[in-house]
Amino acid sequence: GPALVGDHAHGASLDAIGRQAEGCRRCDLYKYAKQLVFGEGPRDARLILVGEQPGDREDIEGRPFVGPAGNLLARCLEEAGIERTECYVTNAVKHFKYEQRGKRRIHSKPNAGEIQSCAWWLGAEIEKIQPEVIVALGATAARTLLGSSVKVIRDRGRAFHAGQEFDVVVTIHPSYLLRIRERDTARREREHFIEDLKTAASLRS
Ligand code: URA
Repeated sequence: GPALVGDHAHGASLDAIGRQAEGCRRCDLYKYAKQLVFGEGPRDARLILVGEQPGDREDIEGRPFVGPAGNLLARCLEEAGIERTECYVTNAVKHFKYEQRGKRRIHSKPNAGEIQSCAWWLGAEIEKIQPEVIVALGATAARTLLGSSVKVIRDRGRAFHAGQEFDVVVTIHPSYLLRIRERDTARREREHFIEDLKTAASLRS
């Protein structure tokens, strides 16, 4: 199952944990990324959004979801009636993993060990914030939160309550929407994503 549970330094504030994370050596990704990208948002957020890992833009700016996928996410949240500024936004893996191709840095998928190592930080964020709902954006976040049996396409849009204090709603990653070429498919998939976000919003008390 997910490695989210553990001893998350009960006395420490989330800010202090974020500063600790900057020196993380739990896996090797710190060697290649410019900086660690910790979560961002209100400490009393009712909703947490979890992505996969920072992208190129996020690695440069040191903030989650500030690149193209983040801009699309912001627009979809707005259409779903969710204030982005009320959400805590973070990632399953907190360093950018990439392959260098000439001048470009191409996103590369984090492996199971990297995901497992990094889950400690996500566990700490969840424990400090105590949200009502967590949205898992894509397979990496979904597996981190719910274990490896979860399937995004099969399980999206419904609430999981895995004996935890919060519901988890699984959906696609917004970068998937950016890759769709066909117009009608893109529109339909975007609507479906917004429906999933609305489901998550409706689970808040
Ligand atoms: N994609 C993610 O999963 N997270 C980010 O922060 C940006 C892009």
